[in-house]
Amino acid sequence: MSKELLIVEDDQTMLETLSHVFRKAGFTVFEAGNGAAGIEVINNKPVKVMLLDLNLPDMSGLDVLARVKEIDDQVLCIFMTAYPEIKTAVTAMKQGAYDYINKPFELDELRIIVNKAFEVETLKSEIASLRYERDSRRQDFGMVGNSDPIKRIQDQISQVARTDNTHVLILGESGTGKELVADAIHNISSRKDKPLLKINCSSIPETLLESELFGHAKGAFTDAKTSKAGIFELSHTGTIFLDEIGDLAISLQPKLLRVLESRSLRKLGGTKDIAIDIRVISATNQELSVKIQQNQFRSDLLYRLNVFTILVPPLRERVHDIPHLARHFLSQFKSTMKEDVIDFDNDAIELLKNYAWPGNIRELKNMIERAYILTKTNIITRKDLLPDSGFNLVKNNSAELFSIRDNWTSLEEVEAKYIQSVVNHFDGNKSEAARLLGISRVTLREKLKKCADADFN
Ligand SMILES: Nc1ncnc2c1ncn2[C@@H]1O[C@H](COP(=O)(O)OP(=O)(O)OP(=O)(O)O)[C@@H](O)[C@H]1O
Ligand SMILES: [Mg+2]
Repeated sequence: MSKELLIVEDDQTMLETLSHVFRKAGFTVFEAGNGAAGIEVINNKPVKVMLLDLNLPDMSGLDVLARVKEIDDQVLCIFMTAYPEIKTAVTAMKQGAYDYINKPFELDELRIIVNKAFEVETLKSEIASLRYERDSRRQDFGMVGNSDPIKRIQDQISQVARTDNTHVLILGESGTGKELVADAIHNISSRKDKPLLKINCSSIPETLLESELFGHAKGAFTDAKTSKAGIFELSHTGTIFLDEIGDLAISLQPKLLRVLESRSLRKLGGTKDIAIDIRVISATNQELSVKIQQNQFRSDLLYRLNVFTILVPPLRERVHDIPHLARHFLSQFKSTMKEDVIDFDNDAIELLKNYAWPGNIRELKNMIERAYILTKTNIITRKDLLPDSGFNLVKNNSAELFSIRDNWTSLEEVEAKYIQSVVNHFDGNKSEAARLLGISRVTLREKLKKCADADFN
């Protein structure tokens, strides 16, 4: 291992002594007699650790440190300070110095500190290369984005896909990509050649859902002319995706729990148990803990389902991914429709980044599609994204209105518009409006007058 050490010290005797000691110990030593010369070395040589005197003739050690951090923030800097400078040493540590030593010092003491710094440097570069390797091996599973949350989700997918029977619960707001995660887990697991069947617990009436899930025997109910396999049986050896699990009727929850616990099921009206080998991936955009408190969801079922939990954060928490996603969707539409729309202008990208995306990635995809159809040029602009006005985008929902950060407006104006919309809501009935607003009619009248004078529209 090469050990490149830079020593910046204006005391020539000191510089020569330290140089000699470290060269003898096998280090590659670079010398500098002032701050500028030190920076010059950092610019040109592969320095890993530097010894830096706090008091230099041309500039302060702290300024040298700041420059070094700009040039190469991996360099570990050890300050050498005279005792009264302890305060500056503390500042240096705060600004990212690795360590400091008080003058006068024992050579052995300095040697230990320098050796430790090189050990830290080695560990740091090992971690960096492991990270790099992991990142280059990371599969993207068709998930666009390279924000930390996306990388974490991709790692979790790889991790859980390696286990075969672990049930997975995916949590996230609507449109965040939960189904995409479920697909990815199945598609890289050892069950990938077996079925992945999906059922949405909220879209099927409770009375039908039981037979859809577990099947029914012939004669189980009036219309059951033949026996029918449910999706649990059909996806035997594969994966089942229970979407909107938070909406599963409370009456069906013990039945699902029993299936998960016993790894077998009995059809509706049936007499024998059928063994099933299945991985269950469930998803919801609801707060299951709240549903448990309201006795709408069984905690024992939750513990069975959430052996491994993947949290898919809302798009507004990964703003960094928005331009990538937008361009990804644009290129998808491009290949199917008009060829000529090539990109977004900066303003459009800014708008996309500043919006709160209550409908998450699905909403983004829809908006890009609409803009793609509407645009008359080959670059999508802000106007294509907001064809009528900014307020159209947010559909008069005040919570969403405030999310368009580049549409900030004064509190007075927001108040005026809000008051006006309440008054309109009550067809001009000021008593009703005042009551809802929690102000007197006199105050309301004053405020309305002020709005009229200001004329915000
Ligand atoms: N990271 C991503 N990269 C590319 N496309 C994505 C990504 N995440 C989601 N999508 C796309 O966004 C849309 C919505 O994703 P998906 O249906 O998986 O969301 P969901 O969380 O299941 O939503 P809901 O709760 O409404 O069911 C899909 O068209 C999906 O392909
Ligand atoms: Mg979904």
